[in-house]
Amino acid sequence: MQIILGCDTSCDDTTVGIIRGLDHTEILSNVKFSQDIFSIKYGGVVPEVSARSHLEEIKPTFLKALNVADIKLSDIDFFACTVGPGLIGGLLVGSTFIKTLAKLENKPFIGIHHLEGHIASCRQKPPFLALIISGGHSLISLYDESLSFTTVCNTLDDSAGEVFDKIGRIMGLPFPAGAHIEDLATQAQIFFPIPKITHGRLAFSFSGLKTKCKQMLEKGINAADVAFFLQESITSHLVDKLRMAVELTGIQKISVCGGVSANKYIRKELSSNFNCFFPSLELCTDNGAMIALAAKDKILLKQDLKKYFEEFSSKCLS
Ligand code: KG4
Ligand code: ZN
Repeated sequence: MQIILGCDTSCDDTTVGIIRGLDHTEILSNVKFSQDIFSIKYGGVVPEVSARSHLEEIKPTFLKALNVADIKLSDIDFFACTVGPGLIGGLLVGSTFIKTLAKLENKPFIGIHHLEGHIASCRQKPPFLALIISGGHSLISLYDESLSFTTVCNTLDDSAGEVFDKIGRIMGLPFPAGAHIEDLATQAQIFFPIPKITHGRLAFSFSGLKTKCKQMLEKGINAADVAFFLQESITSHLVDKLRMAVELTGIQKISVCGGVSANKYIRKELSSNFNCFFPSLELCTDNGAMIALAAKDKILLKQDLKKYFEEFSSKCLS
């Protein structure tokens, strides 16, 4: 069975994952070196610090992924890595390292778009709508059978994850703050009215919400109540825009992915409104296995296309 290695170094985590099998795919390893310790120290991701850490950690992370998967370098059939978008330092470290391995082993290298990785983490067959909610992105895209995506709703300003992180920082929570805000929200006692954001437009906007939460905290409103207000406002905004996207495209099936899709409250609310699919929790935030899964989808598509053209040309010749 074919073995694919995937790597993502587009932001603050050095990640390598290994999967086996094109049809029945098994994740053999999914190793992550988290840079949270630096992000906590500096209050966010510092590109130069992050790039240097990727450089130090890429080799040990790769060796650990091989070790956990219990395979040798020569067992790998395809090498895949995120080639964008992301922080340029990290992207260069990851893609150069993985391309070098592919060259040494004389095996194919497959460059992957970071969002294709998140989309593949849901392990669903297209067509579907992909709601990608992470620290870097908040968008709804139509993902079709040719594995290309057309964005129907994007953010006008911040991403959903960014708002969780920035409000969490004001509250004194560790970075990244999303999961901590989720925990805090369970202790809320006072429930504030939820605003309608970008009413009637197919676009996300989160920056007004950030300002509103900041003002609530400055007024002395309890952090747990603000946490619930923030989480509920984001959820209601996502539901509102998903409803519009479903109406526009006629597509009911929705894959929800990206770090924020780990939020249990958001999962529950989206599932009660739509036909939703989510990644397993370990595949929500950036990871190498999702890049290997996206590469696997591309390999399968190429095989299908090859078969189609062979059948087509043999029909033409006969
Ligand atoms: O997908 P990801 O690892 O990185 C990007 O591609 O941006 O997403 C990280 C984001 C962070 O903003 C983090 O706060 C958020 O995902 N996140 C959550 C939860 N777990 C992670 N947000 C809300 N609730 C969670 N449980
Ligand atoms: Zn991501």
